[in-house]
Amino acid sequence: MLDIAFAKPALPQSGALVLLIGEGEQPSGLWQQADEGTGGAIGRALAAAEFKGGKGKTCTILAPGAGLSRVVAVGLGKRDGLAARTLQEAGGHAIAALSRDANAALAADSLTAAQAAEVALGGVLRAYRFDRYRTKEKPEDKPRLATLTVFSADTGAAQQAWEKLRGIGRGVYVTRDLVSEPPNVLHPAEMAERCRKLTGLGVDVQVLGPDEMGKLGFGALLGVSQGSVNEPRMVVMRWNGAGGTGKPVAFIGKGVTFDTGGISIKPAGGMEDMKWDMAGAGTVIGLMAALAERKAKVDAVGLVGLVENMPSGSAQRPGDVVKSYSGQTIEVINTDAEGRLVLADVIWYCQQKFDPQFMIDLATLTGAIIIALGHENAGMFSNDDGLAAKLEAVGKETGELVWRMPLGEEYDKQIKSDIADMKNVGGRPGGSITAAQFIQRFVNGKPWAHLDIAGMAWATKDSAVTPKGATAFGVRLLDRLVAAHYEG
Ligand code: BES
Ligand code: MN
Ligand code: ZN
Repeated sequence: MLDIAFAKPALPQSGALVLLIGEGEQPSGLWQQADEGTGGAIGRALAAAEFKGGKGKTCTILAPGAGLSRVVAVGLGKRDGLAARTLQEAGGHAIAALSRDANAALAADSLTAAQAAEVALGGVLRAYRFDRYRTKEKPEDKPRLATLTVFSADTGAAQQAWEKLRGIGRGVYVTRDLVSEPPNVLHPAEMAERCRKLTGLGVDVQVLGPDEMGKLGFGALLGVSQGSVNEPRMVVMRWNGAGGTGKPVAFIGKGVTFDTGGISIKPAGGMEDMKWDMAGAGTVIGLMAALAERKAKVDAVGLVGLVENMPSGSAQRPGDVVKSYSGQTIEVINTDAEGRLVLADVIWYCQQKFDPQFMIDLATLTGAIIIALGHENAGMFSNDDGLAAKLEAVGKETGELVWRMPLGEEYDKQIKSDIADMKNVGGRPGGSITAAQFIQRFVNGKPWAHLDIAGMAWATKDSAVTPKGATAFGVRLLDRLVAAHYEG
């Protein structure tokens, strides 16, 4: 992870300097000093580029003088009420412009310690890179930035604020590493091993294999996994930051380490994307890491159902009827609607075992949600208006947006089966909604929200705090939900 340091503002004698500039601002502080030190080169360049500090705008000035390799101006927009999100994005834009420098310092007039830490987090989030399998990249082609020094008048307070936020950065990295891994490496057993590493952070980790799940009666989850030579796992992670005596909050993730569709096999084009069909689980694991890293004062459980959905001689067939852990029977019409089958058993187990305050599940569940909401909002379904409103609010704060979708009996009719309690698909109309209805049949009166993150888990282009690839959507959203509403 990119190293973050805090220092009192002082004009650097070398390296790169980032200036965060509010809309329409005139040079002052370090900006003014740097401009004077370079004989007005910075002012001339910003004028020529018509840079006015607009939000998200950047201007790079190479070798302006005074020993500096480059100056990067990043626009903050209007200064009043700078949201955490705006500060993080500014940090992200800065990092994107800095890859050629080994060291960089970042200055902004009158940033509070907390704001400086948010900028640092944005930088860390954008600096993520998954290069485990690149063996031939030349050193000069790798990003060189090792340390970002953020200027702050109160370095002690900034460092303290950063120690809390750093946990979120680490959690996001955990998720992105998992989601980026290829599916031959990250099968269910390997993913469970990676969960075990959270033990080092004080998380209690318990792993269940096929025999234990068989004894419990996880017919829905095991049906999905039965065509694969890679055994399934369920992992239960507990973080007891509030003493572990009350009802925990619960997060549940779909962890299909590869989704071929099974016998209802998917077309070849783009199938490689289905390595990230475990992103819901990846987010739950990263969230648990974040809560533990920052020692959140909350009791939380994270449960992930890990399977591989493969076609083979032992695979589940369309038409099979399976018995879920809840006792309800399911006619499997389409073996590619597998995520809901996995979630059904894990959600039921979560309620039986933990009696949680609420449950939030995350899943790359349907292609239909991408048609409905694109890549800007996750679909959110909930039986609880209070929980839904909180999720919408923290979504706007963090920039991880969720859009509430409907549930209702009318839709539920679409998953009636002629021979079992329900079928696993409801036809094309409202495909994301009938998927949510299916999950709701395994919710036993608890406040619950389901986040369909199929459009949000993976990005095909860079954005301010997310380089293209695995996004870790949901880690910041749910960390914020916990921090704002559930920490004692
Ligand atoms: N994992 C997929 C959903 C998905 C599709 C995620 C594209 C990300 C990108 C899920 O298991 C699936 O295959 N859903 C089917 C459901 C259908 C068979 C009812 C779908 O969306 O086509
Ligand atoms: Mn599928
Ligand atoms: Zn899937």
